[in-house]
Amino acid sequence: MMTMYDIITKKKHNVELTTEEINWFVAGYVSGSIPDYQASAWLMAVCFSSLSDRETTDLTMAMARSGDMFELGLDGFCADKHSTGGVGDKTTLIVAPIVASCSVYVPKMSGRGLGHTGGTIDKLESIPGFSTSLDYDRFISVVKKAGFAVAGQTGTLVPADKKLYALRNATATVDSIPLICSSIMSKKLATGADGIVLDVKVGDGAFMKNMEDAEKLAEAMVRVAQLAGRKCSAVLTDMNMPLGLTVGNSLEVIEAIETLKGNGPADLVEVVIALSAEMLRLAGKGSEQECAEMARDALNSGRALAKLAEMIELQGGDPQVINDYSLFKQAEFKQEVYAEQDGIISGISCEKTGLISLSLGAGRKTKESDIDFSAGIRFARTVGDEVRKGDLLATVYTSSECDINAAAKELAGVFSYGTEKISEKKVKKIIKGY
Ligand code: URA
Repeated sequence: MMTMYDIITKKKHNVELTTEEINWFVAGYVSGSIPDYQASAWLMAVCFSSLSDRETTDLTMAMARSGDMFELGLDGFCADKHSTGGVGDKTTLIVAPIVASCSVYVPKMSGRGLGHTGGTIDKLESIPGFSTSLDYDRFISVVKKAGFAVAGQTGTLVPADKKLYALRNATATVDSIPLICSSIMSKKLATGADGIVLDVKVGDGAFMKNMEDAEKLAEAMVRVAQLAGRKCSAVLTDMNMPLGLTVGNSLEVIEAIETLKGNGPADLVEVVIALSAEMLRLAGKGSEQECAEMARDALNSGRALAKLAEMIELQGGDPQVINDYSLFKQAEFKQEVYAEQDGIISGISCEKTGLISLSLGAGRKTKESDIDFSAGIRFARTVGDEVRKGDLLATVYTSSECDINAAAKELAGVFSYGTEKISEKKVKKIIKGY
């Protein structure tokens, strides 16, 4: 007879579990027959002993099957993307319309912000009237018409992850490569896309702090996708500074729109083109270079912007926001931050920026708290820029009850200075599973 006690003991001694044991654990935990304290002990044992590739795949598949497995039934290739979580990461809002405007469907189920990192669903909800709670039929109908849709995850999508993620969050067991891999990939496999591009963030603002761990996670996720018969690539991108020049919900949507109008900051455009090109390549649209050209053309021609407007309207939002940013909720308070010294900006601490944005009201401090869509940070200068003492570095915005003076002061401290101009590529590596 299988017992949870034996399964925990095996993992504690780094003994490989059988497929049946993993299936039994996931089913038992979801049904409630295995209590949180035993699941927590097992998760901690995994953090110390890890899981083999086979165990990771078994765990991912068992989790994916714990809820609905979507059959999209669309008449063309469906591409999905997933970011492992970052600060200022508004890429989905740009990549999805680019790819959709190149005749590849993007049925995207996205998450909300987590800790100091933002979430696409929260960003989109800053558009007046926009709805992310679409039932399945409406979701598919928007995808068919606009080529893409973005909806929140339904309650029946991977209930095993919902339960395990909350437990991991409370038991310091989030940062384990096989656990992150199974959490992300179970959701991606259950949503039924033919091709998946993973944006694996590396740096102080990401879960993976160094390249070695990021590569391990990326390889594990690509392998699991392949074993499940899906096309998959991982793009490793820098998260040592926020992506683009804005952090915060409506500020990021506006930056995404500006990028689709051809006015995007270089770092954001680089990441967006790499992700879009990989999605198009998986869809069989051509070589890496041809797909990058196609993505650039969709961006520069305004075709992708038109797609975004179409999708906003179909999901109940006001598409006029594209031309009139005053339609977004405006921040009641703002404060400017000035350089305290001369020099060349050599770094902008990413995690600290995310936490300051959270303190301004742009994220949730508890699971239940409301988001202030107007809150956030707009940088006037970035890494590599030369500044003089007194130059404007950034503006902080909020409509919430918070200490805006303290936030502005702290933001001045996220900048570091050097004497040499540095410009680093944001796309570090692409791991192609196909
Ligand atoms: N994102 C997820 O969905 N799961 C993790 O475990 C980490 C990041």
